[in-house]
Amino acid sequence: MSEVASTAPPTNRSAERSTAGAAPAADAPVTAPALGASRGDPGRAALPIEARGLVKRYGEITAVDHVDLTVEPGDVYGFLGPNGAGKTTTLRMLLGLIRPSEGSVRLFGRDPIADGIHALEGVAGFVEEPRFYPYLSGQKNLELLAAYDGGGAAGRIDEALETVSLTARRRHRVGGYSHGMKQRLGIAAALIRRPKLLLLDEPATGLDPGGMRDMRALVRRLADEGMTVLLSSHLLTEVEELCNRVAIVRSGAVIHEGKLDDLLAAAGGAYRLETTDDEVALRLARAHPGVAEALPEPGGLGLRAEHAVVAELSLELAAHGVGLHALTPRRAGLEELFLRLTESSSTASKPES
Ligand SMILES: Nc1ncnc2c1ncn2[C@@H]1O[C@H](COP(=O)(O)OP(=O)(O)OP(=O)(O)O)[C@@H](O)[C@H]1O
Ligand SMILES: [Mg+2]
Repeated sequence: MSEVASTAPPTNRSAERSTAGAAPAADAPVTAPALGASRGDPGRAALPIEARGLVKRYGEITAVDHVDLTVEPGDVYGFLGPNGAGKTTTLRMLLGLIRPSEGSVRLFGRDPIADGIHALEGVAGFVEEPRFYPYLSGQKNLELLAAYDGGGAAGRIDEALETVSLTARRRHRVGGYSHGMKQRLGIAAALIRRPKLLLLDEPATGLDPGGMRDMRALVRRLADEGMTVLLSSHLLTEVEELCNRVAIVRSGAVIHEGKLDDLLAAAGGAYRLETTDDEVALRLARAHPGVAEALPEPGGLGLRAEHAVVAELSLELAAHGVGLHALTPRRAGLEELFLRLTESSSTASKPES
């Protein structure tokens, strides 16, 4: 057994492991351009993740196409893209589970391929589903992992089970766990490593609404405690709720990278206003510097403006005796932008942030 974030039956193919911490796969050679924060560079603090020019090809398919990722300490970084975009493949390369065809990865300045398990100190996570021995209990699976990990991991099992709300089911066989419980056990398995960096591949996918909410709350709590998190998702709402930075991927390539706030601004900053005097409000909005557009709507008005401008406008309305019934940001702007970016058949530009 060679897994870190979960136990895995020995039938696992070495190049297709689901979890971090194993010796790296030895398939294709790696070309690794130098990175600023590489091992032994005393000039810069090593970043949790620095990936440059990552490519993974499977025959004709380019699953990952020159992906650059920079994850800073404290980031909750969303890796957002539709099915088949290359999220899991990228995470596998980050965790050293498969070799990149090209490019390089550094986790806290260490190379998961060249440095093997040492690169994964302080790092935990799993791709797709965590794997466990189904005929053993959750507790026993964690004990086996802790024994493999050493470094006091065994002493953290109780706390980890408590954190993921599995204490009551700890003695039950994992084979009888629901999908959500297995996901949570996967996180518990990561937590016993006391990671500084947690990589999660669509942790809430397949869970019911309550399970999704709990999983997001858990990720949020871990992030609030100072853990750096990279999580992949195909749900804009999830990334919006949890992440401060986001990379949007399509067909293996990053088509937008940056702060979520900037993405929201790029989405057009659409708002709906309902006031005590919509006519005056419309006139004031149109005259207000920075308001890109203001249009009458049934029972209110619609406008496009940046966050700060909307705040100024609300003060101006008040100064003119116009009261606000509602001032609502429109999600459609962001939704549309996401769909445009991920579904467009033309070659998307790659804005720098
Ligand atoms: N081992 C493999 N052999 C051949 N093709 C692969 C392999 N792994 C991934 N691919 C291909 O690479 C592309 C990206 O797959 P990947 O699983 O990384 O996408 P994803 O973004 O995680 O998708 P999903 O949201 O469905 O999980 C797909 O076209 C997939 O078929
Ligand atoms: Mg996937």
